[in-house]
Amino acid sequence: MPEIIINDIPVAFDPKGSPKPNIMELARSVGVEIPGFCYHPGLSISGNCRMCMVEVGMPTREKDGSFIKDESGKVKISFMPKLQPACYQEPSDGMVIRTETEKVVTNRKYIMEFLLANHPLDCPECDQAGECALQDYSFQYGFSQSKFFEEKRTYESTNFSDVITPELNRCIHCDRCSRFSKEIAKEYTFTRTWRGNSTELATLPGDKITHNYQGNMVDICPVGALTLTDFRFKSRTWFLKQKEGLCTSCGKGCNTVYAVNKENKVLRIKPRYNKDVNSYWMCDFGRLRYAFFNENRRRNSLVAGNVATPAAATEKAASILRQAKNVGVIASAGETSESLQALSIFVKDVLKTPHVDYRVHTAQVENNTSIKSGEVLLVNDPYPNSQGARQLNLLPGPNGMSVAEMLKNPEKLDALLVVCDDKMIETPDFIEALLKAAAKIKDVILFSPYVTSLDDKTSVVFPLPSALEQSGTFVNVDGISQSFAAVIEPSPDVISVPKVITKPMPKTLAQTVEALKRQMAGQDNVKPTGAIT
Ligand code: SF4
Ligand code: SF4
Ligand code: FES
Repeated sequence: MPEIIINDIPVAFDPKGSPKPNIMELARSVGVEIPGFCYHPGLSISGNCRMCMVEVGMPTREKDGSFIKDESGKVKISFMPKLQPACYQEPSDGMVIRTETEKVVTNRKYIMEFLLANHPLDCPECDQAGECALQDYSFQYGFSQSKFFEEKRTYESTNFSDVITPELNRCIHCDRCSRFSKEIAKEYTFTRTWRGNSTELATLPGDKITHNYQGNMVDICPVGALTLTDFRFKSRTWFLKQKEGLCTSCGKGCNTVYAVNKENKVLRIKPRYNKDVNSYWMCDFGRLRYAFFNENRRRNSLVAGNVATPAAATEKAASILRQAKNVGVIASAGETSESLQALSIFVKDVLKTPHVDYRVHTAQVENNTSIKSGEVLLVNDPYPNSQGARQLNLLPGPNGMSVAEMLKNPEKLDALLVVCDDKMIETPDFIEALLKAAAKIKDVILFSPYVTSLDDKTSVVFPLPSALEQSGTFVNVDGISQSFAAVIEPSPDVISVPKVITKPMPKTLAQTVEALKRQMAGQDNVKPTGAIT
């Protein structure tokens, strides 16, 4: 395989690799960091910031192709007179790269001086502080004093988005944001206008950015020129813990990083790279839905609408289920595969009822896993684990009723167990149908992370952990299993589905406890295959 030398480190590369190899990435692969603003591995290369310039040399050859050697017998390297952009430069066999010479570092200093000429001294009030490439490189390479005494260029304040609040005086014109709009979101209204010192990011006159991926433009803006309206001024980033997780707002399962504050509340979600699932991106719908998980939480068990201990609620539920002849179970594909597996064993081996189903949404019924029209990642299935529920066969048995049939024929049931979730609560038609059905069923047992309008219409309510308080596995629409840990500490008041149904219960239910515990400990049939990076 051909090889280049970066700061004396040999690095092999595949010239036919995809994406095409460049010096920036090859250097990163051996731990050599080359600073740059405009380069982003998920976008085309524009090479406009000139921060990544490095020295590039090639072995010299005689006319017959043999190498010219110096007095010590080493192959003589001839360096190009001008620095070359590492992001744009393709490698070729024998190439020698120097990233830390005086010439390179001096270039970085002058680029920083050039970029800071118009940049306001905004760091104390800028949301990007603490995560700002300009701040970091200024610290590393900037001059301590500015020679620029002219008035700084400023822009009229503008509003081109409902998701982004621009602060364009801070813009360094790296063009990442408009390249993202065109190349990933496929929307062409947002672009660079005018020329030279007057260059300005803007939409076409009268237009707004409307795509569902605007938050990514904020993420990749290397400075604080694009801020997320939702997160702006909420917290300094160094006060937030960064927790890896998955987005639970649709079946795609984008890999994410949740920023959690001291009160255990999520304040922001950013995407995390996974080449098989979401690349570097996530949608605004998933990004901005986190508030749901922070609010309206159910914290205690209820029996007949009154607060009860978990033990009393479990005993009541067990007694209902022992007496009921026809039990229906509506499972939630928002639960992990581990939780669904426990429920599946409980339904099939203990309740022995054929009336079980998880398909609340049309996309689940039709197993429609396709990307929504006009979208890049967001899929039709609003649930993160429909495929997991399908794999575990949480579907009606012989003569069993589906969710729709159970809601249509409630008189055929004398008990209904519902595992409720955020998606059900957000679907008023479903909740209304459930309320109507519940009025005709003797006993309804509800598991829910949230306070709902069903609570006082049910015999027993258990407070579930929210999607972000659970650890386990989701299987996404493409069949990729992804394991994850809880993003926020589960409150001590919540109680998971497996915990309730594996609790020692009188007689019949007790028989399953040991079997369930064994299954829960093993979980050998649900192995993660998708890389979480
Ligand atoms: S707004 Fe940010 S991402 Fe866009 S060109 Fe300016 S600095 Fe770059
Ligand atoms: S595409 Fe789906 S999983 Fe990805 S961020 Fe959007 S809602 Fe979340
Ligand atoms: S990162 Fe290479 S020119 Fe900007």
